[in-house]
Amino acid sequence: VKTAVLISGSGSNLQALIDAAKDDAWPAGIALVISNKADAYGLTRAERAGIATMVIDHRDYDGREAFDTAIDDALQDHAIELVCLAGFMRILTADFTTNWKGRMLNIHPSLLPSFRGINAQKQALDAGVKISGCTVHLVTPDLDDGPIIGQSAVPVKDGDTVETLSQRILAAEHVLYPECVGKYAGWMREYGG
Ligand code: GRF
Repeated sequence: VKTAVLISGSGSNLQALIDAAKDDAWPAGIALVISNKADAYGLTRAERAGIATMVIDHRDYDGREAFDTAIDDALQDHAIELVCLAGFMRILTADFTTNWKGRMLNIHPSLLPSFRGINAQKQALDAGVKISGCTVHLVTPDLDDGPIIGQSAVPVKDGDTVETLSQRILAAEHVLYPECVGKYAGWMREYGG
């Protein structure tokens, strides 16, 4: 299953997917990495792994539709079948998400449906929950909504800061995302039309 990963930053989840894809039996081959930021470290990770990269900077486009169309064109050009959002910090239009319905996954650093949107870890700390975690879900037009593929829980410890909680969740993300992408791509290959 030809897979693209969309990033905006460090790309540690991208790295986890790259590492998983080193196993030939893993069903999601990463063929393209797109970043909306030219200085995203994830681009270096992709280049190092020999994966094609593209920078599509939202500031070069007049509005969300034009930006999303540019991304869609790039995905079509590379014959991408599955899109993984991994720390991609742009909200996608309803048209784009509808086009990729059932073919686009996201990872979010909370146990959805709690704490959608940005600063999910801070939202969890502010709410005083004792368990948080991460969620992999299918992308639908509504932000951080959509059917859940998998979740992983981590404890919120006394004295946690946004930084310490984020690190604990991120470590869980690096296990969960490859697990879910592998499972979903496997389903696409076996049961997809
Ligand atoms: C992760 O916590 C992801 O869930 C969130 O942004 C962070 C990205 O980290 N949406 P990285 O770029 O994969 O290192």
